[in-house]
Amino acid sequence: MSQRSCLSVILAAGEGTRMKSAMPKVLHAIAGLPLVAHVVKAAEAAGATGLALVIGHGAEEMRKAAQKFAPKAETFVQEKRLGTAHAVLAAREAISKGYDDILVMFGDTPLIDAGALAAARQKLSEGAAVAVIGFRPPNPTGYGRLIEKDGRLVAIREEKDCSEAEKKIGFCNAGMMAVAGKHALRLLDKVGNNNAKGEFYLTDIVEIAGAEGLDVVASEASFESALGINNRAELAEAEAIWQARRRREAMLSGVTLIAPETVYFSHDTEIGADTIVEPNVWFGPGVKIASGARIHAFSHIEGATIASNCDVGPFARLRPGADLRQKAKVGNFCEVKQATIEEGAKVNHLTYIGDARVGAAANIGAGTITCNYDGYSKFFTDIGEGAFVGSNSSLVAPVTIGKGGYVASGSVITESVPDDALAFGRARQKTLPGKGKELRERFASAATAKKKAAE
Ligand code: UD1
Ligand code: MG
Repeated sequence: MSQRSCLSVILAAGEGTRMKSAMPKVLHAIAGLPLVAHVVKAAEAAGATGLALVIGHGAEEMRKAAQKFAPKAETFVQEKRLGTAHAVLAAREAISKGYDDILVMFGDTPLIDAGALAAARQKLSEGAAVAVIGFRPPNPTGYGRLIEKDGRLVAIREEKDCSEAEKKIGFCNAGMMAVAGKHALRLLDKVGNNNAKGEFYLTDIVEIAGAEGLDVVASEASFESALGINNRAELAEAEAIWQARRRREAMLSGVTLIAPETVYFSHDTEIGADTIVEPNVWFGPGVKIASGARIHAFSHIEGATIASNCDVGPFARLRPGADLRQKAKVGNFCEVKQATIEEGAKVNHLTYIGDARVGAAANIGAGTITCNYDGYSKFFTDIGEGAFVGSNSSLVAPVTIGKGGYVASGSVITESVPDDALAFGRARQKTLPGKGKELRERFASAATAKKKAAE
């Protein structure tokens, strides 16, 4: 089958009014990736060699977004939404290029698995002209019903056009189908709009192909993989299913999730075996974690690279560009952004490290802040190997702490510290013997006098 060329036509012209959103429905995300981008990924995994995206509502926004998640896709605008067959025909130019298989998919069905699509394509390679993907929803209301006879699919009847007997059929149209490229345009051009909604139904090609004596079959997919998103409640449902699948996959690949239902993955999270993720951890896009790391509870991580045997959190925030090398530690209430924490370095408590390098085995004391921003530009802090930065220090960038440099606690460092130097950036302490007691007595008598005057 792999030699067969395949065009995936993804229908995404609908408005999605029930999302109640200024943004086109299919650009809403699950796992940080637009719905339609999930569909594109599934199409590619099922071997699609060409992609045609049919857009309408929010066309400009869609086109722009598509450049990111499907740069090779051709976009076609369906000016008026006259039905699913009409929508597929908007991509006539792409279809007429002569692909072996045409895979029609919906942009709002993000959980479709590549296996179900490949199974439908397989039917084409075995000689079917049309292979419809069916499923058995717990409640079939609203779906087109698959009407079969002797193992062949004879028709798809939309709910509104169904007889009472047909409404009892539980096998429904998931909406997606594979059509042999050599028949596709001819079948689609024969579709009329004589039905309850007055639309050009893609589903009519089943009867049309049957009437031509062509072979039409159904293949079955899971309910989940056919789940279409119409509102934000369904969006959350799909997210939950996606997360559950991904957590399981992570665990089966050797990652320990202590409370899997509380860990959120992004579409592109990578985690190595023997890494342990504690409860309530959130991964945004662009996270790569090697093996043997420990991510403690309540950490929020995005755009970060974490090498093996690192220790992160609890309550750590790693932002884009955080690059933790082997055995680095970033502890509680620390934020790291665009910074390298080199091998074995420790940033353990209540610290902000941004636009910086922390050299190998350096120790950053509690409450250290890299002052990287003056309201206009960002500046770099370079902390050398083995340096020690005392607690509650402010490193005003641009600044360098040399290799083995030592910064006294509570310092405001505005000038670079050479290798192995000790820097104090604070006022010298003054101690006045007996002055504390004297002060206390003075304050107490003043308070007593004030109280008396008020009586
Ligand atoms: C469709 C199927 C139905 C199936 C159901 C599964 C048809 C005629 N019916 O019904 O059998 O059970 O999906 O969810 O195919 N679209 C366009 N342009 C249009 C019309 C639709 O781009 O002119 C897009 C929509 O944005 C959507 C998809 O096509 O992504 C499906 O359209 P929708 O109106 O949701 O079809 P259903 O009535 O749900
Ligand atoms: Mg629908």
